[in-house]
Amino acid sequence: MIAGNRPINYLRISVTDRCNFRCQYCVPSSPFSVIEHKKIARYEEILRITNLACNLGITKVRITGGEPFVRKDIFSFLEKLCAIDSLKDISITTNGALLTRGKIEKLITLGIKRLNFSLDTLDPSKFARITGRDRFQRVWESIFTAHTLGISPVKINAVVLRGINDDEIEDITALTLKYPFHIRFIEYMPMGDSAVEKEQQMLTQEIMEKIELKFGKLMPVKRTANDGPAKKFQIAGAKGIVGFITPISSHFCSECNRLRLTSRGTLRPCLLNNYEKDILNPLRNGASDDELKQIILAALTKKPSFHGLTDQSIKDMPISHMTSIGG
Ligand code: 5AD
Ligand code: SF4
Repeated sequence: MIAGNRPINYLRISVTDRCNFRCQYCVPSSPFSVIEHKKIARYEEILRITNLACNLGITKVRITGGEPFVRKDIFSFLEKLCAIDSLKDISITTNGALLTRGKIEKLITLGIKRLNFSLDTLDPSKFARITGRDRFQRVWESIFTAHTLGISPVKINAVVLRGINDDEIEDITALTLKYPFHIRFIEYMPMGDSAVEKEQQMLTQEIMEKIELKFGKLMPVKRTANDGPAKKFQIAGAKGIVGFITPISSHFCSECNRLRLTSRGTLRPCLLNNYEKDILNPLRNGASDDELKQIILAALTKKPSFHGLTDQSIKDMPISHMTSIGG
């Protein structure tokens, strides 16, 4: 599949809009409702769409939520997903709170070797403030269990917010001295009505300056096929990698190789643009495989080459909140 001149080979599947956390930067500040169960794509439906997308050239899948591990029977779904021959690479983004040693072992048995955790602070009480849940220890254990059991790379996503965790940039970076983790600092994207103010956003340049002041020059790391939009660096002598995801300061739309399937069964060509194409209802109404493939291809023609988030007006954009899209 091609959009513009970009080959699209990466599908992000959000299996649920529900999450056991309430991260300030992710969930809306006003009350919100979750999607009715019957409107959520069933596993068989997701698998049918994924199979067709694979016929069209998808080779990589990432499972996201909300929090994927809150969905019932997720392992039976993952097992079927891993059985799709043409899928070369399956990874999961998780907050890690529901992962146990047994579950991580199961993932490895299924062939899932890459996990992205979300962790914005090393301070348990701050963790509780950011996520709304007192689960730091649980998540910390999951990260190290994954590392010990051979998940590689263990990636850690940290959204940096001024006045909240900007004083921990150096400590979080220092994890890469001891462990082969990939830390990824993500620029806060104002989405919907989150409680985080635009002024709290910290851009990559400022984060990099803080890191270089403490650890010296960040050395660029050669890009590999699995890199996605992160710009990767290493500090001298480090085992791990420091990456930066820069949706605001340097939009990477023209390199974006991904398509999203939301838990409501819509195809979303761009995270930062509200255009979505319904594929679930046509499927439920009896569409053939060919008709469904046409829907996938039609969604891709809507993939924008540029998003509007760098505008001053971003706070006013009616963008859906992240839990419902899956990041
Ligand atoms: N801006 C940037 N990143 C976000 N995430 C969630 N909400 C936002 C936001 N508003 C990230 C989290 C998580 C991933 C699923 O999405 O860090 O790791
Ligand atoms: Fe936090 Fe991720 Fe849940 Fe959003 S989806 S509330 S970022 S754990």
